[in-house]
Amino acid sequence: MAQRGIVDMIDEERLSEIIPEDVSLRLVEPHIYSLYSHGEKTSSYDRIFGAIYDLVACNRFYNRFVWGYLTTDYHSFCLDALRSSTEGWVLDAGCGSLAFTAKTYVNYSGRPVVLLDKSIKMLMVAKSRLVKLSGKVPDNMVFLHGDILQLPFKPKSFGTVISLNLLHVLEDVKKVLQELRNVLMDGGTISLTTLIEHNRFADKYLHMLGKAGKLFPRDAKQLFAVFDALGMPVKYRIKGNLAFIGYR
Ligand SMILES: C[S@@+](CC[C@H](N)C(=O)[O-])C[C@H]1O[C@@H](n2cnc3c(N)ncnc32)[C@H](O)[C@@H]1O
Repeated sequence: MAQRGIVDMIDEERLSEIIPEDVSLRLVEPHIYSLYSHGEKTSSYDRIFGAIYDLVACNRFYNRFVWGYLTTDYHSFCLDALRSSTEGWVLDAGCGSLAFTAKTYVNYSGRPVVLLDKSIKMLMVAKSRLVKLSGKVPDNMVFLHGDILQLPFKPKSFGTVISLNLLHVLEDVKKVLQELRNVLMDGGTISLTTLIEHNRFADKYLHMLGKAGKLFPRDAKQLFAVFDALGMPVKYRIKGNLAFIGYR
């Protein structure tokens, strides 16, 4: 008889529900699949920036005093998104190291969850976070090393899409939104957070990071013009420099 755990965890066969047959997946290590060949360099987060990101950018004091919001807000935002539907799979696009949401995910077993990122190192850190919290990767979670700008999924696979702090690191917001909308089921939700300019002292810092090539500064008007142009009505709130955005 097959062992429990091995039988339940998300494998290639299960992934074929949402990934077309002609997409080849490489098993990197248990629970982590890649769309890239071994050794392929895919992300600046694989280098030193990834380590700095976890230490500095995810620090609650840094986020409170520089960007003006509470990192605990991510928990309720993510939980609301997870509870918003019982249909389809869940996608976290650009999940990074799950610095803010690992605890939220380990307590969620309602639907299968794909945790996708372009950095294999961030995925490995995320995996070890889940293991540290619950002793193993929950059976309903799988990591996928891939690109949000070229999502490998069948259309309408996901009832819930979550993407925290990815929009501001990518130049082509329109392409990101098109990709996410394409994989969203009818009636599904997309929940996003992103740093924006918001008439605060930290706007200057945002631009410094922009000049250093770490992110793409935008204000609310520029950002929501892209949603409007795509006919995607959203609800949003802004706390400090962080926009919390919901699309249904
Ligand atoms: C600012 S971090 C946010 C990580 C996490 N969501 C959080 O809030 O802590 C941005 C993440 O997006 C990932 N990323 C950047 N470009 C990407 C792309 N084209 N496709 C998928 N992930 C990408 C990076 O590797 C990084 O983990």
